Amino acid sequence: QRHLLAIEGLEPPYIADMLDLAESYALLNRSGKTQRDLLKGRTLINLFFEDSTRTRTSFELAGKRLGADVINMSVSTSSVNKGETLLDTASTLNAMHCDLLVVRHAQSGAPALLSQKVDAAVINAGDGTHEHPTQALLDALTIRRRKGRIEGLIVAICGDVLHSRVARSNIHLLLTMGARVRIVGPPTLIPAEAERFGVDVFTDMRAGLDGADVVMMLRLQKERMTGGLIPSSREFFRFYGLDAEKLAVAKSDAIVMHPGPMNRGVEIDSAIADDPVRSVIGEQVEMGVACRMAVLDLLSRNLRRNT
Ligand code: CP
Repeated sequence: QRHLLAIEGLEPPYIADMLDLAESYALLNRSGKTQRDLLKGRTLINLFFEDSTRTRTSFELAGKRLGADVINMSVSTSSVNKGETLLDTASTLNAMHCDLLVVRHAQSGAPALLSQKVDAAVINAGDGTHEHPTQALLDALTIRRRKGRIEGLIVAICGDVLHSRVARSNIHLLLTMGARVRIVGPPTLIPAEAERFGVDVFTDMRAGLDGADVVMMLRLQKERMTGGLIPSSREFFRFYGLDAEKLAVAKSDAIVMHPGPMNRGVEIDSAIADDPVRSVIGEQVEMGVACRMAVLDLLSRNLRRNT
């Protein structure tokens, strides 16, 4: 793998190796003994055309912990505002001999397009409604740590699946690794191609959560909704928001996940989000740094061979 553009198409051994490496970084991070010179002399540029808290910060931390020079390009103060195209921006960064380019963009396929134009290894940090591969890796690592396995688990992915790149990457990864995946949401927020993914589709939240090992909530992405199809927050919470009563039908040891940012009281009740036993949302963020270190480590091995 020269780039990480999507989970779709990755083989189980590659994903398992990535998770094993990420686990080793998770342990190092907890012990404070992170290796610091693996990416010495390498340059990582964070190129985010959409807002981010977790992904951008954790790529910055991951790069710095491995010794890379990290540059966060602020798109809002860059020449993109003067009309520079995506490809011209990429060519400019390429001319500076950037080694690793982390890209988030509102258009599905933008990181793949860039990967054909630049010498750097390109990492998709979320493109439109397509994929968010490092989110799926950190989610899988969190599940594996809590449940000891992925294979055979029932994972319910709930809410605005239609607009969610997190859901797509998770569906591909979890099915590839042998989980049983359910998607749960209102008919208007279920993608038309859902059955083709090989998941079970539920429009009733309690039926979808019944017996689940993992309940993964998604953010209601109002910014990607058009026309009059935006559900009211209150109504959405009533039918699809995760509260104690709905969670009660999942397994008694089911874990609750959310990729963030969370809309409390819209897709998840605050008491559930903050439940120290059921909620693993903080651990997801922690595993984000470890997974991104693993991704940078693996991709940089190919950089070393190529240069
Ligand atoms: N989960 C996620 O991608 O969060 P950010 O938008 O804050 O990066």
